[in-house]
Amino acid sequence: MSTPSNQDPRLDQAAATDDSVLAQHEKVLGKQPDDRGHYRLTPLVMLFVFAGFIFFGATYLGRFSGHFDPRVYNENLKEFGASKAAAVAVDPVVLGEKLFNNAACNTCHQTTGLGLPGAIPPLAGSDWAQGPEDRVIRIVLHGLQGPIKVAGKDFNSAMPAFGKVAGGGFNWSDDKIAAVLTYVRQAWGNKAPPITAAKVAEIHSQVGDHKPWTAEELEAIK
Ligand code: HEC
Repeated sequence: MSTPSNQDPRLDQAAATDDSVLAQHEKVLGKQPDDRGHYRLTPLVMLFVFAGFIFFGATYLGRFSGHFDPRVYNENLKEFGASKAAAVAVDPVVLGEKLFNNAACNTCHQTTGLGLPGAIPPLAGSDWAQGPEDRVIRIVLHGLQGPIKVAGKDFNSAMPAFGKVAGGGFNWSDDKIAAVLTYVRQAWGNKAPPITAAKVAEIHSQVGDHKPWTAEELEAIK
């Protein structure tokens, strides 16, 4: 009968008691890093930081939100008021003078408003320029052609349409026409009341497109 060699490692295993197993595990565990002692501060600090932000935000809104009432503070309202003031500041006479001399009316009627003798009638001292607005607005909207007497002199030529009408190359808005006519009616010693954009728009929508007028047609309009 052979006795088993006590060199066999399985013998140790077989003889292991609970205590020896625990002691063995303790040894192995002891080599692993133990985090229980080093607890991390960062998450806790972040928690306080964000709690601080939320508290600040809530306090700020409570203090400055005006209960989200649109009547308390409307920043757009301020802008609206400012642009309105700028729009009011545009003087139609100043705008009209710019339009007149910007290679438009002045190329024919001259910056002096005197026209060219025998070819282009004058606007300065003209009964047409200072005459009924129903006529002068039509002249600039749709143009003018054929014989006409201006300041006692005869002319027979053609003026282009300036309005947004069929056959008009300039496409000026009703506002521009009102401004240029208001300038013409008070420049160079002329004295006639201003012409409003509303009046130009009224005639524009009433007449629509029209071929250039003749002096005779216009004289039929009171
Ligand atoms: C291409 C040249 C030309 C341009 C540009 C021109 N006109 Fe005229 N205008 C004439 C001619 C020519 C007549 C006369 C037409 C005719 O003989 O029937 C006239 C006539 C007039 C009349 C009526 C007659 C008078 O002398 O009072 C007025 C008002 C007038 N133009 C205003 C203007 C205004 C305002 C502008 C600019 C928006 C303008 N014209 C641009 C050539 C021009």
